[in-house]
Amino acid sequence: MSRIISILNQKGGVGKTTTALHLAYGFALDYPDRKIMLVDMDSQCNASSIFVDNSSYTRENSVYGILEKKEIHGNAIFDTPLENLFILPSHLSLIEMENQLTTSIDGFFRLSDALKPLKNEYEYIFIDCPPNLSAITINAMVSSHDIIVPLQTSKFSIDGIRFIANAVQSVKDRYNPYLKILGALLTFFDPRTTIAAAMVPEIRKHIPVFQTYISKSVAVEEAHLMKKTLFDYAPGSKVAKQYDQLIKEIQNVYR
Ligand SMILES: Nc1ncnc2c1ncn2[C@@H]1O[C@H](COP(=O)(O)OP(=O)(O)OP(=O)(O)O)[C@@H](O)[C@H]1O
Ligand SMILES: [Mg+2]
Repeated sequence: MSRIISILNQKGGVGKTTTALHLAYGFALDYPDRKIMLVDMDSQCNASSIFVDNSSYTRENSVYGILEKKEIHGNAIFDTPLENLFILPSHLSLIEMENQLTTSIDGFFRLSDALKPLKNEYEYIFIDCPPNLSAITINAMVSSHDIIVPLQTSKFSIDGIRFIANAVQSVKDRYNPYLKILGALLTFFDPRTTIAAAMVPEIRKHIPVFQTYISKSVAVEEAHLMKKTLFDYAPGSKVAKQYDQLIKEIQNVYR
């Protein structure tokens, strides 16, 4: 049975895609004999663009087609440079799916239904969510066991945390009893800043916080431009080591 993990925060630019990408890639490196899937649910296609040229597929071969047909056909699953890592890419037109999802009875369950046949094949499935709490994001929550919430302390607000915690609780109560928040991941974090450090206990009052945090580094943007992860672009960098440490922290929870 696969473990499905959504990377979610309704705020933009907090490190969701970077985290989803590095977790999927890092898990695939750590477990070469297990299959890992990255699902891009954001119409911005940032995660997809690392591995797949957007001119090489149509919306039918993307998450759009998957949500429309409620099934995953082979030509929607794309290879990556790692033999055991695969990606379901997003498409610019995914935004147009929102209306269809909110007006059909099975609208919140389509991703979950589509992923069912993959559950014996893929050990870990990571879902990169868009920066909103749309029907697309609800599909990710309905499909998932765990939620990881990247949080940028400068953009962070207690109201925002409450909003996420309430949304997760609502989905848990109504649609998916297995859902839980695994933890908040502090991104762009500098523990020497007193304000940033003071926020951590505040966040912990609402949701758990990972021990590992992610620093700000230009290497992240550089790696992205080179369409690489930090594990290949700058394996010795601080942020590469932090993502590696986060992976170990998550693996310890699953052990
Ligand atoms: N630790 C970091 N240090 C420096 N830059 C980072 C870091 N993490 C992410 N970035 C950069 O910040 C920007 C936003 O990151 P990312 O795309 O991961 O966030 P996001 O939450 O997915 O954004 P969106 O809400 O738009 O989908 C990107 O340009 C990314 O390269
Ligand atoms: Mg993103």
